Amino acid sequence: MKVVCTQASQVLGARLAGRLGVETIDVKFSRFPDGEISLARGETDGETVIVGAVTDANALVELLLLVDACDESTNTLVLPYMAYARQDKRFHPGEPLSVRAVARALSTGVDRVLTVNLHDPSTLTHFRVPAANVSIAPEIGRYLADGDGDPLVLSPDDGAMRFAAEVAAVGGFATDYLDKTRLSGDRVEIRPKSLPVDGREVVIVDDIISTGGTLAAAARMLLDQGATKVRSACVHGVFAGGALLHLSAAGVGEVVCSDTIERANSCITAADRIAAALE
Ligand code: R5P
Repeated sequence: MKVVCTQASQVLGARLAGRLGVETIDVKFSRFPDGEISLARGETDGETVIVGAVTDANALVELLLLVDACDESTNTLVLPYMAYARQDKRFHPGEPLSVRAVARALSTGVDRVLTVNLHDPSTLTHFRVPAANVSIAPEIGRYLADGDGDPLVLSPDDGAMRFAAEVAAVGGFATDYLDKTRLSGDRVEIRPKSLPVDGREVVIVDDIISTGGTLAAAARMLLDQGATKVRSACVHGVFAGGALLHLSAAGVGEVVCSDTIERANSCITAADRIAAALE
C-alpha cells in the first residue's frame, strides 16, 4: 500500500503515510498553457490510498485527475473535507442536489471512500461505493485537555450537541449548547441553554467554521454575559471572507482547526483517526 495526495492535502497525506508506515507516491503537478490542470504520478504498488480535500472546484478537478491516474490500482479515497456537503437539500425546483453530484463524481475509479466529520453522515448514501465517516471529536477533546483551565464546551446549536459532548468527554469538561431566540427580524438573543458563563472560560466547538458569523455573534453575547475568555475549535477551517479577522474583532481569543483543510492554525491532526479506520 502507498499513499498519494493532492496539493490540498500534502501535510495530512504525509502524516497518514507515517502513521500507516507506508511510502508516499510523488506527484508532479503542472498546468497547460490554457490553465487546465495536469499531473503525473510516480509508481503505485497495486493498493493506493488517495487523500484529497475538496475545498473548491480546482481541488475537485485535481482529485478527479489523480484518481484517474491511479486507475490500475485498488483505491481507497480519503476525503478529509468535502465541499458542497452542506448543499444537501433542494429548496426550489430545478436546483441540483450538489452533495450527491460531488459524491457520484468521486465514486468513479475508487473502491471505497472515507470521510471525516461529514456535515451530515447520512449523505454517505450518495456515494456509489462503500463509504464511511470518522469523527475527530476525541482529537479536539485531547487538544483542549492538554491545555490549561476547565472550560465550558459549548456547541453553537442543539444539532452539534453530540459532537460537543464527545469533545468535552475527553477532558471531563462541562458541556452545553447555545439557545437562539429570535427577538425580531434582525435581532437574535443567544445564550447557553442551562449553564451560566459568568466568570468562566468558554470554548465553542463546531464541525465547520465558514464565515464565522455564527461564532462571532455567539462570542459577543458570551463576553457580554461575563465569560472571561472565548476560544473556538473546529474540524474544518474554511474561514471564508476574512472569518479569522471577524472572529478576532468579536473577541474570540484563539481559533484552532484540524488539518482536514491545511491552515496555519491547523493544530489538530486527523491522521491518527484516519489511519485507525484504514487499518
Ligand atoms: C452548520 O450547520 C455548521 O455546523 C456550522 O455551524 C456552520 O457551517 C458555520 O457557518 P458560519 O461560520 O458561516 O457561521
